[in-house]
Amino acid sequence: MIFITGGSGFIGSNFVLDWLAAENEPIIILDKLTYAGSVNPLDTATHSHYHFEKGDINDQALVKRLFEQYKPRAILNFAAESHVDRSIHNPNHFIHTNINGTFCLLETARQYWLTLNTAEKTEFRFLQISTDEVYGSLKPHDAPFNESTAYAPNNPYSASKAAADHLVRSYHHTYGLPTFITNCSNNYGPYQFPEKLIPLTILNALENKPLPIYGDGLQIRDWLYVSDHCAAIKTVLANGKIGETYNIGAHNEKTNIDIVKTICEILDNIHPSPLQTSYTSLITHINDRPGHDRRYAIDAKKIEQELQWKPQVNFATGIQKTIQWYLNNLPWIEDIKSRDVYKQWLTTHYVQMEKS
Ligand code: NAD
Ligand code: DAU
Repeated sequence: MIFITGGSGFIGSNFVLDWLAAENEPIIILDKLTYAGSVNPLDTATHSHYHFEKGDINDQALVKRLFEQYKPRAILNFAAESHVDRSIHNPNHFIHTNINGTFCLLETARQYWLTLNTAEKTEFRFLQISTDEVYGSLKPHDAPFNESTAYAPNNPYSASKAAADHLVRSYHHTYGLPTFITNCSNNYGPYQFPEKLIPLTILNALENKPLPIYGDGLQIRDWLYVSDHCAAIKTVLANGKIGETYNIGAHNEKTNIDIVKTICEILDNIHPSPLQTSYTSLITHINDRPGHDRRYAIDAKKIEQELQWKPQVNFATGIQKTIQWYLNNLPWIEDIKSRDVYKQWLTTHYVQMEKS
C-alpha cells in the first residue's frame, strides 16, 4: 500500500492513473478537494484497489488513522497550493498547506514509523514532491540548477515549498526518517488546472479570449510532460538513495511567448478559429507578475546517471497530445469553467493585472 496526498490534483491524478495501470499495489489517497482538486480523473480508474479519503493533510487525527488503518510502506506528498499568482494575492493557504501540512505529515509519519518492526522501518519511505522554484531565478548564461544549488525562493509559493523541503531534510538528519525530495521543472499535460499558462492559453483561444502574457514574455521555463515526471517519481521511490534530493527535468527551456505561439499554431491547424484569423492575434501583453523569476532550468544528470531515468516525451509530441486532450475533454473543462470560484479568479486576477 502506498499513501498519496493531493491525488486529485494535476500531477497527483496522473500519478494515480499511471500507477493503477501498471501496478497491483493498492493506493490510499488523501485530498481536500480544494478548487484545484477534481475527482473526475479518478472516476476513470476502474481498479478497485484504491481508496479515497476527503480531508486536510493538517488533520493529524485523520492522517494518523489512515497510517494505522492502511499501514502504507510509503507516503508521497503531492498535496499543495501550487499557483504562484494565488500565493501573491493571498499567501495564507500556502503557509497552511505547504508548510504546516508537510510538518503534520512528517510528524505523523515519524510516529507511525517508530511503531514499525525493523524490516518495515527499513522499507518505509517519505517522498516530498517539490519544485525547481526553490532555487530562485537564473541569469541567461547561468548553469541550470543542480542538487547543490543554494535555495533562494522569490515568491510566497516557492518560499513555502522551500520551507517544507527543509523540514523534510531535517526529519531525515535528526530522526533518521527515510526521505527523498524531488525538485521538478514546469509540468504540462492532461488535467492541469486552467489557471496555469498552457491550459489557460488553450481554453482562452477556444473562446477567442485574450491570451495574457506577463511583461515581455521572454521569461524562460523548462517544460516536462507530466507522465515523465510520474515515471521519475516512481524511479526515485523504487531506487533512490535515502536522504537524497533529485532534480527532474527534460532539458527543454522555452520562452513563454514561444509556448503561447506554438499553441496558437497547432490550434490554427487542427481547430481553426471560426473568425478565420490566427489565434496569435489574441496574444495580449499585460503587466508583469510581481517578483517574476526570469529563468528556470534543471540539470537532471543525477537522476539520469544514478537511477537511469530519462524523459520519453519530447515537447513537440507532448504539446500536441496536451492540446488534443483538452479538445477531447470538454465536459471536464466545462465543469471547471462553470464554477464561481474559477470565474471569480479570472476576473479579479486579470483585471488587477491589467490595471496595476
Ligand atoms: P494542483 O494544484 O493541481 O493539485 C494540488 C492538489 O492538492 C489538489 O488536488 C488539492 O485539492 C490538494 N490539496 C491542496 N491543499 C490540500 C490540503 N491542505 N490537504 C489535502 N489536499 C490538499 O498541483 P499540481 O500541479 O498537481 O502539483 C502537485 C505537486 O507538485 C505540488 O507539491 C507542487 O508544488 C509540485 N510541482 C508542481 C509542478 C507543476 O508544474 N505543476 C512542478 C513541480 C512541482
Ligand atoms: O517550475 C515549477 C512550477 O511551475 C511549479 O512549482 C508550480 O506549481 C507551477 O504552477 C509552475 O509555476 P509557474 O509560475 O512557472 O507556472 P504558470 O503556468 O503559472 O506560469 C508559467 C509562466 O507563464 C510564468 O513565467 C508566468 C507566465 N504566465 C502565466 C500565466 C498564468 C503568463 O505570462 N501569463 C499567464 O496568464
